[in-house]
Amino acid sequence: MCGIVGYIGNREAYPILMKGLQRLEYRGYDSAGVAMINAAGAMNVFKKKGKVSDLADFAKGQDITGNIGIGHTRWATHGEPNDVNSHPHYSQSGDLVMIHNGIIENYAAIKEGLTKRGHTFQSQTDTEVLIHLIEDIKKSENMKTGHAVLVALNQIIGAYALVVLDKNDPNTLIAAKKGSPMVIGIGEDEFFIASDASPIVEYTKNVVYLNDEQVAIIRRGEEVKLRTIKDKEIPLYVQELEMELEAIEKGGYEHFMLKEIYEQPRSVKDSMRGRLNAEKGIVQLGGIVDHIAKFKNAKRIIIIACGTSWHAGLVAEYLFEEYARIPVEVEYASEFRYRNPIIYPDDIVIAISQSGETADTLAAIELAKSKGATIIGVCNVVGSSIPRASHAGSYTHAGPEIGVASTKAFTAQVVVLTLMALQVAKEKGTMAESKFRQLLYELESIPTKIEDVLKQNDLIKHIADIYKNAENALYLGRGFTFPVALEGALKLKEISYIHAEGYPAAEMKHGPIALIDEAMPVFVIATKGPNYEKVVSNIQEVKARKGKIIAVVTSGDKDVKGMADHVIEIPETDESLVPLIAVVPLQLLSYHVAVMRGCNVDQPRNLAKSVTVE
Ligand code: G6P
Repeated sequence: MCGIVGYIGNREAYPILMKGLQRLEYRGYDSAGVAMINAAGAMNVFKKKGKVSDLADFAKGQDITGNIGIGHTRWATHGEPNDVNSHPHYSQSGDLVMIHNGIIENYAAIKEGLTKRGHTFQSQTDTEVLIHLIEDIKKSENMKTGHAVLVALNQIIGAYALVVLDKNDPNTLIAAKKGSPMVIGIGEDEFFIASDASPIVEYTKNVVYLNDEQVAIIRRGEEVKLRTIKDKEIPLYVQELEMELEAIEKGGYEHFMLKEIYEQPRSVKDSMRGRLNAEKGIVQLGGIVDHIAKFKNAKRIIIIACGTSWHAGLVAEYLFEEYARIPVEVEYASEFRYRNPIIYPDDIVIAISQSGETADTLAAIELAKSKGATIIGVCNVVGSSIPRASHAGSYTHAGPEIGVASTKAFTAQVVVLTLMALQVAKEKGTMAESKFRQLLYELESIPTKIEDVLKQNDLIKHIADIYKNAENALYLGRGFTFPVALEGALKLKEISYIHAEGYPAAEMKHGPIALIDEAMPVFVIATKGPNYEKVVSNIQEVKARKGKIIAVVTSGDKDVKGMADHVIEIPETDESLVPLIAVVPLQLLSYHVAVMRGCNVDQPRNLAKSVTVE
């Protein structure tokens, strides 16, 4: 939630900040703002409710010069999205400004104390309280700004990634982090700060990832200095970025989401590369090799995740139980952390997260860790908080996912979890060698099969056109395809704002069937497998009530074709791998419906890509 950028160097800061904000807009997009100090030492702040483009219109013709500055794109937590609540926020004197991502939990108490000391506040935000506190400490203790930041951060409870700009020190940026991500790019006589590497990659590949409770003092012409908030010096560890610029640009597609859907043959392949060799009968995720004995002896696996990653976790439940015969519980991280869950030291906890930053998932990890469980992270963003908090894990290699609705990250997660379950099954001896081999070959063929599905885009678009005005939709699946039904429904509701529910097909008769009439599209995954006949019966139940059936079927299917209003054929594969293929037409369908309804596909209302607040 919220994207932050900063620049100090010899170039004009404003264009760099604005381009960076556009790249980070997926993190939050209800308002945006920038602050620059110009050559005469004046600090100019522009902030506006709306998108980064609204900010650009607002700043047109104004003094946007200066080679030091900060910028922010917001996803509101404290205070509604409006111009005043937008970042940057001012200190009492107006000499300091700050951008912030995260939540200051004890802001109300601090605000009360500051109010008694004569402070007045313009906004309803927690951020403004923190920058007032910093200035209050700076003045009362006669400290430099950097030092005052350290002291203030010891007084707050909560999460932050923040950057402070001091009008009276136009050669310094002060950045700090706890809980929310922050990267510093190190160029030639210039420095960049951002929530993720995407605003930095085109300028430099040398980066420093800030750790929790660290503060960076970034001075023009000097080396970056790192300290903990306890004032302990930390050596600088410069890493090389692996990200390529093309990966974060639209590359000719109208939307990131469409690009990412089409990238799946490649991202699935990348997630298997070097880990799977069907010919030699090898599956090996290097990240879990050292923990394989723990997997082997685990009496239970707990999977924690949120959103789409939780759906990938549900697929993994079926996979681990089927292949490796280990009982699995799949938990919403937010529920898990606030119960008093029973966790044993021999439990394996798999935390799944695209961003690697989801606050609830991180907190659930810490809880499970404190009880002695082994934490295995399955994340997409390299170097993010969850992999760092895990004992071991595997990256998904889907590449940067910018569209807020997750697509290629989901299939990559399912691939990695499939490989993991197979590796454990092999180790435990719970699967016949012939079945194991067959699955490896099947897995290798998945990218080509996804390509075949993508070729049906025109048909899917045609179906989208027919149902684009629906008010409700139902998605049904059974067994391995039940999580796909949930994911299909989530995709539709999050980007097209049509109410949609995913259900296990057989459960339909315990409630949703009451909603079915001729206006209700029912999307059914009815691929060949042990549940096929049962799903066919469910389709008949819908048809008997005049519901419209759009069925995802196995290529060559005849029975469902005779009953359904529309069918989308997908290539045949093993039942356990169907989710990897069946989800693709549902992603495309949601995409087209959303575009046809004029929705902002990549940045749906109220949502954010990376949910760093609980
Ligand atoms: C947000 C995103 C979803 C994502 C969920 C979990 O809601 O919009 O696309 O599935 O967070 O995020 P994570 O990064 O942990 O997978």
